[in-house]
Amino acid sequence: MGMTHKSISNHNQNQIKCIREKLGLGRTEFANLLGLGTQGERTVRGWETGEHKPSAKKVAQILALEDELQRAKKDAPFYSERSNPAFRFIDLFAGIGGIRIPFQNLGGKCVFTSEWDKFAQKTYLTNFGDMPNGDITQISATDIPDHDVLLGGFPCQAFSQAGLKKGFNDTRGTMFFEIQRILVEKRPKAFLLENVKQLRGHDKGRTLKTIMAILKGEHESEMPQDIPLSDEARHALSEKLNYWVDFKVLRAADFGAPQNRERVFLVGFDKDFYSESDIESMFRWPVAPKTKTRVGDILEDLTNISIADDKFTISDKLWEGHQKRKAEHLEKGNGFGYSLFNADSEYTNTISARYYKDGSEILIDQTELGKNPRKLTPRECARLQGFPENYIVDAVSQGQIYKQFGNSVCMNVISAVADSMVSFMKLVDEKRNVA
Ligand SMILES: C[S@@+](CC[C@H](N)C(=O)[O-])C[C@H]1O[C@@H](n2cnc3c(N)ncnc32)[C@H](O)[C@@H]1O
Repeated sequence: MGMTHKSISNHNQNQIKCIREKLGLGRTEFANLLGLGTQGERTVRGWETGEHKPSAKKVAQILALEDELQRAKKDAPFYSERSNPAFRFIDLFAGIGGIRIPFQNLGGKCVFTSEWDKFAQKTYLTNFGDMPNGDITQISATDIPDHDVLLGGFPCQAFSQAGLKKGFNDTRGTMFFEIQRILVEKRPKAFLLENVKQLRGHDKGRTLKTIMAILKGEHESEMPQDIPLSDEARHALSEKLNYWVDFKVLRAADFGAPQNRERVFLVGFDKDFYSESDIESMFRWPVAPKTKTRVGDILEDLTNISIADDKFTISDKLWEGHQKRKAEHLEKGNGFGYSLFNADSEYTNTISARYYKDGSEILIDQTELGKNPRKLTPRECARLQGFPENYIVDAVSQGQIYKQFGNSVCMNVISAVADSMVSFMKLVDEKRNVA
């Protein structure tokens, strides 16, 4: 197979570029895999132009990278080499792949991933054996492989209650336009987008209305110049999409996960591709089973955990701080502050990306053990989000994995929506085969 590089000669900086390109990596992703810091992309560029040379240690690491990536594929619990997939999909703003797994389980093959956070990339690589591409704003839509389904839980800070509610005027809010420009170029048959529930009411509903209008090809005007958009995205807006689109707010606890997480899901089908189908009546949103949930179902038994291993019970100082803040909030008449749950609670609050900070949104009561409350363990976070038991949760630090699960999705809900979407697509295929 391919060339082998026993060493990197002093004269041939091209070899580094050649190895990197052979591995299909951008400079930033290459730098992330080598554990370079924030200037990593520049360092790699310098190696490639001969401006400076990597240390002997880095050369060894570079030479070992191919094997390392091969090993990652072999060891990844969710690596999929599917040669004859039912459909091909791309995983944008992929995080740790919470949207990917259900679609993969339904016979789909992931042909492209984008996620720029180097810690999320590490968890993703460990679990899927694929190193995500980085910053989507730097990737031209023409370089993205053809696919049937586009998946994207695009960043939500700009729309969420916790954020500044800036929406499209915040670059994080403009990530929708990255999706839009890819839809314009690739015209996948279907898409699933996910965001915080607040997107629905953001800017008195105008933000979601704009998004829907663009996806349906019903938008009139150009975006104001002060909205930070790439040239490709701005240009793509002059093209009209033609998707049937619908959205729904779905709650994790209604789909069997003991978490009160509500999210907006937007599903779209290309009306040109499905021109003969009555999508409106054939696509059915999943019906929530609404079985009663119980927090105890996701808890680990930490009764006998040693003090050294207990990284979850919060310190006296933190616990006192939580109680003090809660008392202050109560006095002011608002309900903020920590929330305690136990095994018998029906569901927890929504786990957020800030959970690693102080865990205040979900603390587990440990009165019966005579201890302060504790945070969830990484495995419990995984369960709360419906991830399978063999999902690897310790490729990164505890702080990072909390952030990653907080940012992720509840897989129970994604599975149900994915089922509905794939059923619709299959139904049309069957009808076409009969005709
Ligand atoms: C709400 S999270 C999505 C999480 C994902 N659905 C999951 O299951 O883990 C949004 C993700 O988009 C990533 N992101 C934000 N801007 C990006 C960009 N320009 N290019 C690539 N990824 C980006 C963030 O790092 C974050 O992980």
